[in-house]
Amino acid sequence: MIKLAPSILAADFNVLGNQINMIEGRGVKYLHIDVMDGNYVPGISFGTPVIKSIRKNTKLIFDVHLMVEEPIRMLEDFKDAGADIITVHAEACSDLPGTVEKIKSMGLKAGVSLNPETSLDKLDSVIKNIDMVLIMSVDPGAGGQPFIADSLQKIKDLKEKADKVDANIDIEVDGGIRHSNVMDVLKAGANVIVAGTSVFGGNILENVDKFNEIFLQYEEIV
Ligand code: DX5
Ligand code: ZN
Repeated sequence: MIKLAPSILAADFNVLGNQINMIEGRGVKYLHIDVMDGNYVPGISFGTPVIKSIRKNTKLIFDVHLMVEEPIRMLEDFKDAGADIITVHAEACSDLPGTVEKIKSMGLKAGVSLNPETSLDKLDSVIKNIDMVLIMSVDPGAGGQPFIADSLQKIKDLKEKADKVDANIDIEVDGGIRHSNVMDVLKAGANVIVAGTSVFGGNILENVDKFNEIFLQYEEIV
């Protein structure tokens, strides 16, 4: 099942609750929440108070992407704020298996993210214990960047690697995804599609509908 995960980083925070209601009313199930700490990545986005506040307004699955150094320090805070899935960066964890274990022990789904230059080998110690891998198709830190084309091969390689060890993982892709390139991302093997600019830029309802149409087209050809 393919899921669209709109990233609120590109939303209008002045009317954030309304925009979340709009996408939820259009059949979206995931909400991608980009947390940046000003350390792992240069910018700061928002943290637990914002997540706690929007949690009251929606039943969407909160897919929290922590672009944070040593996220093990604050996993409980994000659980309490309402996270359903917590994704950490392999590059940002000195103890990746321990960090994953902690997310799982809190009863949440665990994801591990890899930057464009990070090898899939980084997953070896955790691939059997995680629910999702997030392939960054831009350098983390900002929305609106162009998709890095090499990511397609990485997605294919990840799919093969996961199948080989019988790991039942979702493959999420994040950065630069547009209506024009999402079919290629699906064909490569992704099933969770993050989109910021291409959902919240312009007409939100039309943007979501257009993604849903492409997902249907994809499901017809496979
Ligand atoms: C980048 C974030 C992305 C970003 C995607 O650091 O992780 O989720 O918001 O934005 P677009 O879809 O605009 O590339
Ligand atoms: Zn993200």
